[in-house]
Amino acid sequence: MTVYDFDRVISRKNTDCAKWDAAPAIFGETEIIPMWVADMDLPVARPITEAILKRAEHEFYGYPAQLPKSAAAAVVARMKKKFNWEIDPGWIVLTPGVVPALYAAVKAFTVPGDYVVHQDPVYYPFWSVIQNNGCQVANNALQLAGDQYEVDFDDLQAKFEPIQQMVPLPQRTRMMILCNPHNPVGRVWTEKELRRMGDIVVGNGAIMVSDEIHCELLFNGHRHVPFATLSPEFEQNSLVCMAASKTFNLAGLDASVIIIPNRGLRERFNQAKKGMMPSGNIFGVVALEAAFTRGDEWLEQVLDYLQGNLEFLAGYFETYIPKIRVIKPQGTYLVWLDCRGLGLSSRKLMTFMNRTARVGLDHGYVFGPSGEGFERMNHAYPVITGCWP
Ligand SMILES: Cc1ncc(COP(=O)(O)O)c(C=O)c1O
Repeated sequence: MTVYDFDRVISRKNTDCAKWDAAPAIFGETEIIPMWVADMDLPVARPITEAILKRAEHEFYGYPAQLPKSAAAAVVARMKKKFNWEIDPGWIVLTPGVVPALYAAVKAFTVPGDYVVHQDPVYYPFWSVIQNNGCQVANNALQLAGDQYEVDFDDLQAKFEPIQQMVPLPQRTRMMILCNPHNPVGRVWTEKELRRMGDIVVGNGAIMVSDEIHCELLFNGHRHVPFATLSPEFEQNSLVCMAASKTFNLAGLDASVIIIPNRGLRERFNQAKKGMMPSGNIFGVVALEAAFTRGDEWLEQVLDYLQGNLEFLAGYFETYIPKIRVIKPQGTYLVWLDCRGLGLSSRKLMTFMNRTARVGLDHGYVFGPSGEGFERMNHAYPVITGCWP
């Protein structure tokens, strides 16, 4: 058994990594601890490094043909093992990332002017994915109820109803982009919630694009349910965006897998992405396969570590900074901090975090209007045992 030492601090500075090397420009401070972008400061599973080194030894890095059969088989086996979802390898479309796939999906299934639903506060590229395709955001804002966020189902239903004007206008709401687990609020949507959302979206003839990139980063016993597994109708009207990139910390390797069971939707998606995306990253698919087939020993240990970090962080805030409330995530290593108790405007809060606290966080307002007064903190870091009070 390989035992990983996640307490080891390995500098990422000057490695051309966005989190550390772009931080001074982004936050306007050189001495700042960057806890923003969603990758981990924890080294990857050994089998992944070995697989990449082996591939590199071949010394030919030309165009790949397609998703290798063995990598596709690894995805099929992973879906079965983790979620009891039986998929056909032909349903898998390789893309260089989930965000490019979201762009292609909006392009494929909408026309400019259409509405696309999402739920703010939400991973900020969702806004630009919709708007840069000429569509309009139908924002089904999440509601903070006590310690957790909930879906406003009446409002979701209303997103599909005619707009009441002098002459009612038909809403052309053709799609919802779901985030599950939800970044930044950390909700892992339950089967019941997913069914209700699906009944509204699919029931109104729209397509559900389900971004499940964080689906294996779960805490406190929460269980992930892929949207498409809930009914044959949901399966035929959805795209499920998966990857090894968040779970196994491979974001720089550009390989995501979009599972599209419906042939017609798959063809339209493939058409939309034509010429816009490279055919694949040879190291990305090798890493994906190694992660899905030989990464679980590492994953178990990293999840334990992250769970410990989360408990530590929540306890620390409660004891020492009680004015900031931790919205404890059920999934993802991103913590949503309710800073409204500090009584600062968004701008002052941002300046306080950047200049005074000197932590580089994702400021809440970038996730949408419901994010005002919040900050998002990444906690996937070494927490050196014994260094803290
Ligand atoms: C919900 C969500 N989707 C997509 C991404 C990015 O995906 P990719 O790097 O594969 O484009 C992130 C990254 O943090 C994310 O949180």
